[in-house]
Amino acid sequence: MSLSFNIFFFFTILNIQTQLNKALDDMSVSLCALKEGMNYTKQLPEQGLTQAEVLDRISEYETLNEVDWENGRVSGAVYWGDQTLTKLLVKVYGDFAWSNPLHPDIFPGVRKMEAEVVRMTCTLFNGGPNTCGTVTSGGTESILMACKAYRDMAYERGVKHPEIIAPISVHAAFDKAANYFGMKLVHIPLDKNTMKVDVKAMRRAISKNTAMLVCSAPQFPHGIIDPIEEVGKLALKYNIPLHVDACLGGFLIVFMAKANYPLAPFDFRVKGVTSISADTHKYGYAPKGSSVILYSDKKYRHYQYFVAPDWQGGIYASPSVAGSRPGGIIAACWATMMHMGEDGYIKATKKIIDTARTIKTEIRKINGVFVFGDPEVSVVAIGSDVFDIFRLSNALTSKGWNLNMLQYPSSIHICCTVLHTHEGVAKQLISDIKEQVALILKNPNEKTTGMGAIYGMAQSIPDRSMVTEISRGFLDCLYSTEEPKSSQSQKTHMNGNGKAH
Ligand SMILES: *Cc1c(COP(=O)(O)O)cnc(C)c1O
Ligand SMILES: *[C@@H]1O[C@H](CO)[C@@H](O)[C@H](O)[C@H]1NC(C)=O
Repeated sequence: MSLSFNIFFFFTILNIQTQLNKALDDMSVSLCALKEGMNYTKQLPEQGLTQAEVLDRISEYETLNEVDWENGRVSGAVYWGDQTLTKLLVKVYGDFAWSNPLHPDIFPGVRKMEAEVVRMTCTLFNGGPNTCGTVTSGGTESILMACKAYRDMAYERGVKHPEIIAPISVHAAFDKAANYFGMKLVHIPLDKNTMKVDVKAMRRAISKNTAMLVCSAPQFPHGIIDPIEEVGKLALKYNIPLHVDACLGGFLIVFMAKANYPLAPFDFRVKGVTSISADTHKYGYAPKGSSVILYSDKKYRHYQYFVAPDWQGGIYASPSVAGSRPGGIIAACWATMMHMGEDGYIKATKKIIDTARTIKTEIRKINGVFVFGDPEVSVVAIGSDVFDIFRLSNALTSKGWNLNMLQYPSSIHICCTVLHTHEGVAKQLISDIKEQVALILKNPNEKTTGMGAIYGMAQSIPDRSMVTEISRGFLDCLYSTEEPKSSQSQKTHMNGNGKAH
């Protein structure tokens, strides 16, 4: 009985492995295949190209784009994308291209700008004079820094195995932090209706090893804000730091009250909140490579710093993961914030939340699908009790949309950016969803195919190490400078001349 079950299971796994490998091959073709006449560069040109030649070559790389993100077909990813802002950013980057905040004596302007970006962000989150922070390279680094700071505080208290207590919906950057810094991530379930963290379960998970509590404002999968005030009370009662991950929506939620969309308090006004991460490179509309990590008090930030007092190269003090940092990115971030101003951010926030609320309301009216919880910010996640939601994902992909696929439970989401506020975009999305759901409902039990099937399958494999292994294959494929074999044969086939590339 058990043997036959195992054998069945074994064959299923083999089958899954085969199919996943096939999916990986397909992915490698779609990611790494080149257009006709292109090739990979594997060594330096013997003689440097002229500037004109470089620009000529660059234009070839631009032709590889296939996804229509400019017209709002993609969830998240690009938050603004407007050409006039791009021009300003490029000019400011150019002016500070050689600067490096590691040398504040040489580049005092960048030092001032970084300090101001941090202070302006503290002010947005209602931080008093003791609040402080640093600029980092992105949300992940901001989160890594908070976890590292709280780990070192726990070590100082004599905790040997510090734990992060976080909702299961929290960003994978916390898994990364736990992995990098030798911490344990304790995942807390969500309330099934609201998708907010179960605060009672969080309280039960607190132990002497707890280094920090986490809430998201909002979380990535379903766009829901955790009950920060309630968790803040736990943080105070047990004297544990509380990090609020506002990486995604930080630069929306701080403007929502003024855009006439009030929210429950989520920032430094909530007692118990000791740190907040907010990404300038998402709804701050700054170019990629910047985020802010804030603390309620300088004592926390000290645990983030790294100092090597005895280095032969001199006393070495650095605030975050990187040593040298791109001053140009900090300058461009500063310029974006100054150019947007409070009025610019409020206007953008209003448009984005209007759009997300419309999408939420309209999707709730469609039979056969539902919206997870009551999302208040820019993300709307869709599920179904009647059919496999990944079929809808496939159908929307074939209509040119590029939404996010989520797992445990299966769902898809749209993260609205400024690009989705443009005339007609949300309307088209809603009408495509309506139309495709109606088609699917004609045959609700039909088998899922393509990428949707792969995602569903990957989720059902009990041995997660297999999924990890296959994902490593995916990452390897990003660094490939070989044309995938199957794409060569496809091209050969298409050319019909048998000439190898
Ligand atoms: C994007 C995001 C992060 C991580 O940000 P990166 O800039 O991609 O490193 C963290 N938390 C949430 C909720 C996010 O959406
Ligand atoms: C690769 O492409 C470059 C530029 O398109 C071209 O100059 C070069 O000759 C090509 N090399 C090969 C080996 O085909």
